[in-house]
This record gives sequence, structure tokens and C-alpha cells, in this order.
Amino acid sequence: AQSAKESLYIVSQYAAAFFVKQLWETDEGKGIGLSYFKERGFREDILKKFEVGYSPDVWDAMTQSAINAGHNIEFLEATGLSIKNEKGKIYDRFRGRVMFPIHNFTGRIIGFGGRTLKTDKNVPKYVNSPESEIYHKSNVLYGLFHAKKAIRESDNCYLAEGYADVLSVHQAGIENVVASSGTSLTVEQIKLIGRFTQNVTILFDGDAAGIKASLRGLDMILEEGLNVKIVSFPDGHDPDSYMHHVGAGAFKTYLEQNRKDFILYKANVLLKDAGDDPIKRAGIIRDIVESIAKIPDQIKASVFIRECSSLLEIEERILLTELNKMRSAKS
Ligand code: UTP
Ligand code: MN
Ligand code: MN
Ligand code: MN
Ligand code: MN
Repeated sequence: AQSAKESLYIVSQYAAAFFVKQLWETDEGKGIGLSYFKERGFREDILKKFEVGYSPDVWDAMTQSAINAGHNIEFLEATGLSIKNEKGKIYDRFRGRVMFPIHNFTGRIIGFGGRTLKTDKNVPKYVNSPESEIYHKSNVLYGLFHAKKAIRESDNCYLAEGYADVLSVHQAGIENVVASSGTSLTVEQIKLIGRFTQNVTILFDGDAAGIKASLRGLDMILEEGLNVKIVSFPDGHDPDSYMHHVGAGAFKTYLEQNRKDFILYKANVLLKDAGDDPIKRAGIIRDIVESIAKIPDQIKASVFIRECSSLLEIEERILLTELNKMRSAKS
């Protein structure tokens, strides 16, 4: 007999194919979904490669279609694709949205992100599949299946925030890109990258709040022993919007010319924030040394200490003393 897990993969694949068909072959899908993607500048080959689709704006189109095709409602519910309300009425989780299927790294579909086409602020921008027997969010990187070969070959993994970012960076001809999509980055996701490369380049959304919030989370990558670089985008842009704004060629050049080492980037951002306030500056120095203390490789760490010493205008000896204190506190 087929395992329950296998049945969840199968209904997920069914739903993905249903959404794809809606996008390309129905008036509603073409008129609303496909034209939305085209207005955003996505090429057809990219839409097809990532198997994006459209969920019709009615209560239960996907569920009914799946049941008619012989699929079991129990499995549809277990993936979160179908939901039963208190009255026992069944409806589709995703309605009137463009659909991004999420693949595991062997290429099977395990979940979905659905983006609204409405500008209404009360409607959540993305609805995502819930956790299920086959979808464990903290272990999944969006785009990894399509990126893994290029990650190995280039020995680098670009890490973005969202579904659209992954598609757009691909469209620019850069295939070694994934997104953490919907969760803040987890240790499991970093270990997953570490199976393919030791080098991560973060592509941040350009908003200042986002940057400061994620600086802390990124220490986790250093702790895993990976090398972290960062590319930030002009205010208000994310990798997706910037790629479409400047075009593929200029985007590639931008990535090459604006790649900064994470520690030095962090030091710069925090320093700018602190201005001349000596107490704030002292706090920052501690914060930076704390990041450096996370790097398992002592030689690498000492190189950063030297660079930060000149950047922060602090004697190397003092930074090293601080580093050693933190190291011994940790062990
Ligand atoms: P963003 O708000 O940056 O969205 O969230 P985006 O990817 O740029 O989307 P577009 O370009 O407007 O279409 C980044 C990621 O966070 C998750 C999604 O994975 C999204 O791609 N997210 C965001 C959610 O899960 N739910 C939300 O309501 C918003
Ligand atoms: Mn597939
Ligand atoms: Mn964002
Ligand atoms: Mn974004
Ligand atoms: Mn975006």
C-alpha cells in the first residue's frame, strides 16, 4: 500500500498541476494571473520552470477537481490545501492568488505560497501552506531544487527573502539563489546550504528596519562556519524589484561590485548608527567582536580582528583581549 506521506506528495503534485493549468489555459487565469506576472516583468520560461500557477477566485475549485479525479479528501486536508469548516463544508485554502509551489531538494512539491492580487491592506500578501507530514518549514529553502547544481558549480549560494526574488535573480541568469520564505532563517536551513557550499551571499531587502533586524540572525551563519557576504540594495528595493528596475546585465554587475564581507558591513552599519556617542560605540565594538567570536576558524577570526581594528580605530590588542574573553566565556 502507498504510504500516507506518498499520498500527500501526490495530492500536492495534483494541485500544482491544477494551478498551472488554470494560469495558462483559463480566461480567469490568463486575464488575472498571467497578466499579473507579465506586468511584473517575468518571462514565460521562468514561470514554467518554477511551475507557478493561479488559484481561481471561488470556494472550492481545486478541491472539487481533485476529488473528481479520485483523490482522497483526507490527504487534501492533511496538506492544508483543503480546509473543512465547523459546518463540515470544504473549501480551498488558496483562492484568487498566484501560486508558487515549494519543492523539496529532490524536486517534489511539498507546499505552496500564494500571493494575493489585491492591493487591499487587510488581505494578507502571502498565504502559505501549513506544516504537514511532508512540509517542515524550518528545513526547507525555496528554490533549492532549481539552484543546487549552480550552487555547487559556483561554490556560492545567494540567499534572498522571497519567492519573487528567487525567480527574478534566476531570470537575470543567476541560478544559485534560494529564499528562506516565510520564516526567519533557521540553523537547519543553514546546514542545508552547507551541504552544497561554504559561501553564502545575503541579498537583503533594502529597508533599514529589515537590515538591522537581520544582522543579529546572521551570526548564526558564522557559527556554522560558513563565510558570509552581503549585498544590500538601494532603499525600497528588493532583489526582485531591483533586477526589473535596472535589467539583467546591470543587476549582475551590481551583485559583483557590491558584495561586502558581512562583518565589515555590520561594523559599518552599526557605526553609522552610533555617530560620535562613545557609549554606543563601545557597545558596537562588543557587538562586532561577539560576531567574530562566532567564527570557528581562528585564523579567519584574527583577519577580521585586524580589519575591524582599523575600521573601528581601536588597537588590535584590545579587540583580541575582548575576543578571547568571549571565547572562554562560551566554552
Ligand atoms: P516581502 O514582503 O518582502 O514580499 O516578504 P516579496 O517576496 O517581496 O513579495 P512581492 O515582491 O511583493 O510579491 C518576503 C517573503 O516573506 C514571506 C514570503 O515568503 C515572501 O516572499 N511572506 C511575506 C509571507 O509568508 N507572508 C506575508 O504576508 C508576507
Ligand atoms: Mn516539479
Ligand atoms: Mn521584506
Ligand atoms: Mn521583498
Ligand atoms: Mn518583492
